Amino acid sequence: MKILGIETSCDETSAAVVEETGDPAKPWAIRSNVIASQVSIHREWGGVVPELASRQHIRDICGVVERALDDGKTSWDDLGAVAVTQGPGLVGSLLVGVAFAKAAASAARLPLVGVHHLAGHIESLVLHNGEMPLPAVVLVVSGGHTSLYLVEHAGHYALLSRTRDDAAGEAFDKVAKLLGLGYPGGPVIDRLAKRGNDRAIQLPTTRLTHVDRNAPDLKGDLDFSFSGLKTAVLRHVRSAPVRSDQEIADICATFQRIVVTVLIDRVFDAARRYQAKSIGVAGGVSANGRLRAEVQERGMRREIPTFLPSVSLSTDNAAMIAAAGLRRFRAGRTATLDLNADAALAL
Ligand code: KG4
Ligand code: ZN
Repeated sequence: MKILGIETSCDETSAAVVEETGDPAKPWAIRSNVIASQVSIHREWGGVVPELASRQHIRDICGVVERALDDGKTSWDDLGAVAVTQGPGLVGSLLVGVAFAKAAASAARLPLVGVHHLAGHIESLVLHNGEMPLPAVVLVVSGGHTSLYLVEHAGHYALLSRTRDDAAGEAFDKVAKLLGLGYPGGPVIDRLAKRGNDRAIQLPTTRLTHVDRNAPDLKGDLDFSFSGLKTAVLRHVRSAPVRSDQEIADICATFQRIVVTVLIDRVFDAARRYQAKSIGVAGGVSANGRLRAEVQERGMRREIPTFLPSVSLSTDNAAMIAAAGLRRFRAGRTATLDLNADAALAL
């Protein structure tokens, strides 16, 4: 069976065709994955402008879906279902994808599947690598989220911890902005950090030990916090504003070392605590060169298999939504035509 996936939760309009392989170890194959990025529109404003994002999704969605079907040599009649990101994300952006998917499913008489955006990021690991040994601990680290999940059974994601304030990708974007490096910040910091000394300046790292009163069900000691680190970079930059290229590279390298270390420490702590048989890291920040290298290196040392998506499947794309949609469809969880976008959808 082939499924059409649609993703419009933020600033990427994406459509993809993903096909079942029949191989339980590597269940899905990508036939097409088309992404229309809005980065050049939002760059001018230093971040995503929700109203501009929704309007651009409307302009792009029809062409992107047609292209995904063409590239995947797939007609509407070849499809078995339509999957769409229902949330979380920007509600105006989500609505464009959800409305399009409902109309398409209804016109083509196909089942509709609503997908959680983070389920998509988690399933990008399986899409790229095949099924992970379970139980697995998976970190989803993106511009909007930094959350750890325990996957004991395929398709079931139990939240272990999350950030108390900024997401890691958001911290990359904000630090890049205050260094005058433009948007999005992650890829620029990743590049500049290679030339920097990662011990050049003093920056704090945060280790939470207490339960968050807003989330008493979580233990809290695996939570993340990045706003203090961001503020420390801001103070450092304000204390001596003229910066050489080398100093900027040093700040990038130090900031990146701290973020990557915190992320990896928590994932491996969680893996030990829950006796995980594998570790996964997904989401936009999993494209980071240092994070990828250190996850793999530490996995090798601890003798636990580690999984990453390809760099192109790290950031937002519809192939991961199609994959998570197939998982949900096979579990019998289809949606009705009153499916609505939900900016704060829980997983
Ligand atoms: O998953 P994603 O495309 O969108 C969300 O669901 O948020 O993630 C985007 C985030 C941005 O914050 C971006 O700066 C970050 O991923 N990112 C990176 C890298 N590439 C993208 N962060 C660090 N290093 C990178 N190479
Ligand atoms: Zn995402």
